[in-house]
This record gives sequence, structure tokens and C-alpha cells, in this order.
Amino acid sequence: MCGIVGLVGQKNNVVEAVVYGLEGLEYRGYDSAGIACTDSGDTKIICAKACGELSALKAQLHEQPISGLAAIGHTRWATHGRVTLENVHPHFDCSGTIALVHNGIIENYHELGTMLKAEGHIFKSDTDSEVVAHLLESILDRGLSPKKALHELVSRLDGAYALVIMLGGRSDELLFVRKRSPLCLGLGKNKSAVVSDLVAFDADIEKYAIIPDQTYGFLRMGEVEAYSFDGFSAEITYTPHIHNASSRDRGGHAHYMLKEIYEQKGIVHRIVTALNDLGDEWIKGLGYTSASQASESLKKLTHVDLIACGTSYYAASLGAFFLRDIAGIDTSVTRASEFAYNPILMKNRLYGVVSQSGETADTLEVLRALKRQEQSVFGIVNVEKSSMAREADGFFAMHAGPEISVASTKSFTAQVVVFYWLALKIAHSKGLITLQQLQASEAELLWCGNKIEETLENNKSSIEHDAAWFAQYKTCLFLGRQESFILAAEAALKLKELAYIFVEAFPSGELKHGPLALVDQNMPVVVFSSADPLVYQKIVSNAQEVKARGGRLVVFGFQDQTALLNLAEKSYCVSGFSSYTQCDSLLGPLCMVAAMHYLVYSIAKVLERPIDKPRNLAKSVTVE
Ligand code: AGP
Ligand code: GLU
Repeated sequence: MCGIVGLVGQKNNVVEAVVYGLEGLEYRGYDSAGIACTDSGDTKIICAKACGELSALKAQLHEQPISGLAAIGHTRWATHGRVTLENVHPHFDCSGTIALVHNGIIENYHELGTMLKAEGHIFKSDTDSEVVAHLLESILDRGLSPKKALHELVSRLDGAYALVIMLGGRSDELLFVRKRSPLCLGLGKNKSAVVSDLVAFDADIEKYAIIPDQTYGFLRMGEVEAYSFDGFSAEITYTPHIHNASSRDRGGHAHYMLKEIYEQKGIVHRIVTALNDLGDEWIKGLGYTSASQASESLKKLTHVDLIACGTSYYAASLGAFFLRDIAGIDTSVTRASEFAYNPILMKNRLYGVVSQSGETADTLEVLRALKRQEQSVFGIVNVEKSSMAREADGFFAMHAGPEISVASTKSFTAQVVVFYWLALKIAHSKGLITLQQLQASEAELLWCGNKIEETLENNKSSIEHDAAWFAQYKTCLFLGRQESFILAAEAALKLKELAYIFVEAFPSGELKHGPLALVDQNMPVVVFSSADPLVYQKIVSNAQEVKARGGRLVVFGFQDQTALLNLAEKSYCVSGFSSYTQCDSLLGPLCMVAAMHYLVYSIAKVLERPIDKPRNLAKSVTVE
């Protein structure tokens, strides 16, 4: 969600470098983009803005190039004010000598705006962000130094904000502020940078640092001056930067989503190997510091509360099945935005946040609220330098690699694998399973890992063939039971997000309690089967109910489930994993996941949707 790139350079190439950085941030989702730059000795700030794709801004820059020694750029994901040219960042003060880009929401923008307008400030946009430029102007007009002005500025702003500010003519420095929204610094050859995400850096950046929360400061060539909001010097810790240009390419695929669907093939082996490599240290992922503390606490642990949003919520919901059934831990899952910020404090309870980006504001705020109440919180996170990874007591890395497409695919699979592995480790540590049982279950997990791509390949041509049939419908029902309901719900989220088709997912047992009224010959009903024989029998009955009302039945099933498969108009099958194999039926959804992703991808392709960047959505949702 929104991207910020600020650069101080030595040569007149900073605008191109800012564009390169913004391209790296495109995956986060945006609706418009803009750049401003300034040169030394010239108080003028020049800028270029465009609505829509970054390519529109690039075309404009090609027609009318701008250049300077310092530049700030922004990809906007509108929260306040429509997608219009006036609302594109950078925003300016009245004199045009302060330009800024902002990620986040200024919650008290209305009060500040009213006050500033009464002072005579003229506003040009409907954004909450513009208020910051005018507020800074009014503070600087009182003769305060930039440092004192920033100190006062942060004391007057409420909300979440990453800000990069440029003062006209001062091409040797940029001002930055971070409260809750992410921001990183990079220092290197011929340039210094301040960006929303490391992926925006180019190969010139030699070392980087995550700006601590509630910090403001100044970025200059090769140097940073930073202060915490209370005015004391802030410590900035650098890590060497290794530029990975390949995470930006699509690896020969038409879309990042397709690349990421195919990356699921090797993911299970990679994750299990990496997690096993932790050895006895694995308990640190849960936030425990010693083996004895872990073993005592795990024996007493009665409840795990998992908190997440979107796809991560569904992965956590499968994780809850694993933790309950394998590790004997009562587990609840809550959407972060619905989590009560003042939970009843209970003993022997552990909280877990689950997030691909590690920056999702709703989830991050719950983590912070829990930490304020001195609760133990662990994370399952893909981006290892993210806020959640840093602020949780411990975390398990998902090892999924960068996920660029807005739709989560491989990260869902990775989260599910981490949860399964974790449930096994806890069960073993509690003495519920032997080492042999642990190893046998891990082998089943790896076996299912191979099924991910096999199932995709086996069903690929039918999926491609059927995509146009699905694409003609405006609504759809997805059904499943127990663990397969979670897959149905995740599939429904994917189809809404990518194809803009309205899909409702229900536990199939609920059908007769209401949704069956929707079923007729114009309603595709996609049933996700379970490999558990008892659950399967009940799913067959639910599928019969759909069939009896003339519904267009589609089935994701397992090879020997002929009673169900024969009812279906279209079906996609997992081979070799039957109700009669010894493999844990809880792993059934894992075998189906890539085929499900490919079906959604293919439908979106038929409908010519912007697959990697669905409308209105952002990859990293950094506002609540
Ligand atoms: C899924 O396809 C989404 N785009 C979205 O639901 C996502 O999973 C959600 O925003 C949570 O993100 P996170 O995992 O980075 O916290
Ligand atoms: N709230 C600001 C706006 O609507 C910034 C949004 C963003 O983070 O892109 O312009």
C-alpha cells in the first residue's frame, strides 16, 4: 500500500533512481504516482504527477524531463480523496517550497485543516496528507530550525505516518518521519535513500537500516541524523544490503501470480529443511528463551489465539485445526480488525500473529496492544525484516521468498506448512507423539508437497478449458466441510479479488439452513471435498442436495471419491491421495491449493483482469 522513495544524489540521475525505486514498490498496490525534485541553490521544487499506472508518469517524464540532486516519489493508494491529479502526492505548502510524500492516515487532519485554513492557508487537494505541508510551513514561519520544527510537527499529528519531506533548494538533505507506517534508510555509492521497503533500493545502496518507530531525522549524502519523538538521538543500526534484482522479474511467466503459483512446488521441502535446521533453537520462534522454559510452558499451554487478516487468516484457520488435532491445544482464530484490543488476560495463553508482509496495520496494532499488556506473542511472517518479525517475542520465517502479486498464493501454502510443522513439534515436545511419529508425519507433509504441482499439472488443461464457462457467471457458491471449508473460503477470497466475481463460501452443512435457496441452474456450486471418510460422506449428501435443485456442481476431490466425482459437471482430482491412504486428511487442502489458484488465475485471465494488481487493492495494507 503506497510507496515512498526519497533520494539525495551527487549526480543528476536521482529522478531515474526514484522511478526505479517506485517500480520496485508497484506490487504494494497504488492508483497514481508523482515525483518532485530540487537542485542546489534554487528554491524551486519541480514536479510531475499522473493518475493510473507508473507507466503514465514515466511517459510524462519522457516528454518533459525533470532533474535535480534530491527527489521524492510516491505511489498513492487513496484513503482520503478520490484518485484525481490534485490528490496525487507530493503535496506542497502555500509557498511551494515544502514538498512531501506521505504513507498512512493523519487522523486529526480535519481539526488541523480547519485551523490552518483560518490562518489563511490555501489547500489544493482533498487529502489528509496536504495538511502536514501547511502545518510545517506554519511552524517554520515562526523561525524554528528544521529539527525543532519536526519535533513540534510530530507532537501535533495523530495517526500513522511515514513522511519524506523536501525543502526547496536544499538538495543536500531530506527530512523523514516515521510513526507506525514502515520506512527504511539506505546509504551507498553516490546516493542516500529513504524508502518504504528494501525492494526499492538499487545496487548502489551498500547498507540499510529500518527506521525505529516514532523517529524523525535528516538524510544526507552518506549520513543520517535521527531523533526519537522525545527529542533524544535515535540509534540507527545498519545491515549490509545485497541487491536482488531477480525478485523483480517474472521468471518468464506472464504474471507474477503464475510465477508464484509455480514456486509452490519446492516450497514444502525448503520450509521443512529450514525449520529443521533451527534444531533446538526452534522454541525461540515461539518466544521462549530456554528449552526448560519452553517445555514447562508448552505442557501448561491451554490456549493459542491466532490473529491475522485475509489469506493469512485462512492459513491460521487451518493452523488452528493442526494445533487442536495434533498438538491438543485449543486454538481460536480472529480477524485482526475484529480483535478486542483489551482481551481478558488469562494464564497459559499464547498469541500468534500471522502475516506475509509483517506490516499489515490491523495485525500489527493487535501485536502492539498485546505487547503493551505484557502478553507473549509469536509470529509467522514472510518478510524477515518486517515490523512484526522485529516486535514479536519470536517468529518463524515462512521462507516463501518475495511475493509480488497482490493475491497471496505461495505465502498461504508456506503458512500452512509452517503451522503443520509447528503442531508436530509441539506435540512431540509435549510427549503426545514419538520421534518416529514426528518423522513419519513430516514425510507425509513432504509427500503432499509433491502433490501440489502434480495436481496442478494433472488438471491444468481441464482448468484452462473450463475457465471461460466459469467466467460467464456473476455469482458462485463455494462449499467445504472442516478443513476443506477453509480452502473453500480462501478460494472464494481469491475469486472475488482477482475475477471480481461475487462468491460466498459456506460450510456445506449450512447449505440447507439458508443458501440452498440461491441454488438453481444458473448457480455454479464448487465443492471442496475432504479426504476424511466421515466428512466425505456428509459432503456427498450436500452435493446431492445441490444436484437435486439443478445447481451446476463442480468438485475438487480425491481420486477414489467416485460417488462425489460422478455427480459433478466438472471436476478436478488429487491422484494417489485417497480416503484410504494413511496420510493425514488435514493435509488434503495442501494438495489442492495450486490447482485452485490456477483455476482462479485462468478465470481472471479470461475476464482480462489486471491479475497482479487487482483494482482497489494493495499488497501491504499499512492503514487500519
Ligand atoms: C490475499 O490474496 C490478500 N491480498 C490479502 O487478503 C492478504 O492476505 C491480507 O491483506 C493480509 O496480508 P498479510 O499476510 O501481509 O498480513
Ligand atoms: N492518506 C493519504 C492519501 O490518501 C496517503 C495514502 C497512502 O498511503 O498512499 O493520499
